[in-house]
Amino acid sequence: MVTIVLGSTLAPAQTADPALQRVVTQGRGSLAFILGNTACRQRLLGTCINWDRVLLAMEQGQALGYVAFKHHLRGPFALRVQPFVQEFGRIQGWVRFAAFCLSEYREWRYSFLLYGLRVNKPARNRGIGSALVQACCAQAAADGFKDVFLEVPLNNDRARALYLHNGFRLLRKRWVPFPPVRSMHRLAEPAL
Ligand SMILES: CC(C)(COP(=O)(O)OP(=O)(O)OC[C@H]1O[C@@H](n2cnc3c(N)ncnc32)[C@H](O)[C@@H]1OP(=O)(O)O)[C@@H](O)C(=O)NCCC(=O)NCCS
Repeated sequence: MVTIVLGSTLAPAQTADPALQRVVTQGRGSLAFILGNTACRQRLLGTCINWDRVLLAMEQGQALGYVAFKHHLRGPFALRVQPFVQEFGRIQGWVRFAAFCLSEYREWRYSFLLYGLRVNKPARNRGIGSALVQACCAQAAADGFKDVFLEVPLNNDRARALYLHNGFRLLRKRWVPFPPVRSMHRLAEPAL
């Protein structure tokens, strides 16, 4: 049976497991030009995860997917320059870190943001993505928020359909074409 748990309720030994960290750092592929490939993202962000901003779908002790969220200036990743400098050297490390900070700060206008969602390939089409979206909206309601926002890449039809089926509506098109995303909104009710 799949259960959804807040990452911060897991034991420190579990959250220190690189396999669990990889589930979360595999997301953010759209920022590969700043954060590199999946292995690089793991090195940059694996030890910087704010587990109180991550809900995990667990089955028999294994994480099958996650949804991450942001509010009160805190998202799933703590902003630390050190791993960037270690990975890319001083100059390129600072440049990439600054670019990552910019992409993070751009999103602070949303009161509660569904920041990232991913289900491991073998576990897809079992309703886990929908369960994570619903759990994230319930978390927003429990944390006192009325609205949940997210940004979906223009070319991700599957994710957009999933969000539409889970009660989100598309907001009006943005003036700026970059990043190529469309904002969506839903009320933070526990379940539809
Ligand atoms: C998008 C993504 C999270 C969907 O995850 P998922 O677990 O496959 O999602 P679900 O199973 O809930 O829904 C997918 C489809 O499975 C089917 N499905 C849902 N529940 C099901 C169930 N209990 N049994 C069988 N099939 C089911 C439905 O057809 C559903 O499609 P619909 O929402 O259009 O009706 C996953 O494809 C993914 O990780 N993609 C890569 C990362 C990504 O694009 N993230 C979004 C960034 S904005």
